[in-house]
Amino acid sequence: MKKEVNINWEQLGFGYIKTDFRYVSIWKNGKWDEGKLVEDNKISISEASTALHYGQQCFEGLKAYRTKEGHVQLFRPDQNAKRLNRSCKRLLMPEFPEERFIDACKQVIKANEAYVPPYGTGATLYLRPFEIGIGDNLGVKTAPEFMFCLFCSPVGPYFKGGMSPVNFVVTTEYDRAAPYGTGAAKVGGNYAGSLMPHSIAKARGFSDCIYLDPATHTKIEEVGAANFFGITHDNKFVTPKSPSILPSITKYSLMHIAEHYLNLEVEERDVFIDNLDEFKEAGACGTAAVISPIGGIEYEGKLHVFYSETEVGPITKKLYDTLYGIQLGNVEAPEGWIVKVDE
Ligand code: PLP
Ligand code: COI
Repeated sequence: MKKEVNINWEQLGFGYIKTDFRYVSIWKNGKWDEGKLVEDNKISISEASTALHYGQQCFEGLKAYRTKEGHVQLFRPDQNAKRLNRSCKRLLMPEFPEERFIDACKQVIKANEAYVPPYGTGATLYLRPFEIGIGDNLGVKTAPEFMFCLFCSPVGPYFKGGMSPVNFVVTTEYDRAAPYGTGAAKVGGNYAGSLMPHSIAKARGFSDCIYLDPATHTKIEEVGAANFFGITHDNKFVTPKSPSILPSITKYSLMHIAEHYLNLEVEERDVFIDNLDEFKEAGACGTAAVISPIGGIEYEGKLHVFYSETEVGPITKKLYDTLYGIQLGNVEAPEGWIVKVDE
């Protein structure tokens, strides 16, 4: 009999719900084992693991979507596999083969099918692949062994409000990454450093903080755990370019959608914090955030409002509808963007 789970899908926020299976594979003596699904959600590793002391770990985030017909599909998992491997390279960790990454996603989704939210609920199944340095080690060096894991959790919107505008505040006291540090890699250390500025922003009633470029503090880099985009008054889709930004798969997908579906000009370039007037709409984008419209940004004590603090701008709405439509299978996707799980 098909398993059923008792979850109020429409009410889900972005939180952890234990599912039944996760995938694990161990790298030892220079190679990965064959990998397997396990039921335990606890990990037992050496107290001397590099992941625990020296931050030798990286992770990914992608989602599985239930289509109108009831099938399940992934959005550009090859891009997450490639980015995981770039993060691994940066931290001297062994790469996990792309085809095995995608196979692990499929295995975990199939084993946890009951947790893939129904179509039309706004919820999706978030997949969290990660790799950690394990084994006995004391000095600052790469680990003797590694673990690749992939678990999943059904989720709702990342920023409260979903497609309703939210406000952000610029932090000039804290950076999330160094100019030639690990900003472009999806490594835990970047997020550890963001916890304090995030909590300060939250305490002041903002959804998160905006990080500026660490070298000059004049240009927008990231919106919390999401990338920034703005729509200029002459209808250009603009998004920051910097070596310390995480290259967001959602952002690159939106650049393609803006150009090929919405006929907008697209620019990836510097976005100066003292030139927010150039934008009539702005948003945060990422796998977890999808698109979160930015109502306003507070900088140096002044709130700059874009389209509206309560309503979504028309271009942001079109971008969202097209992206989410592609992810759900309702809008034709560019070749290779959709990977079907159950066909
Ligand atoms: N920026 C940061 C710091 C993130 O953590 C994420 C989330 O993955 C993003 C941007 C968005 O990236 P993506 O669209 O690939 O999920
Ligand atoms: C994502 O969008 O997948 C993220 O990584 C955001 C956050 C949960 C880290």
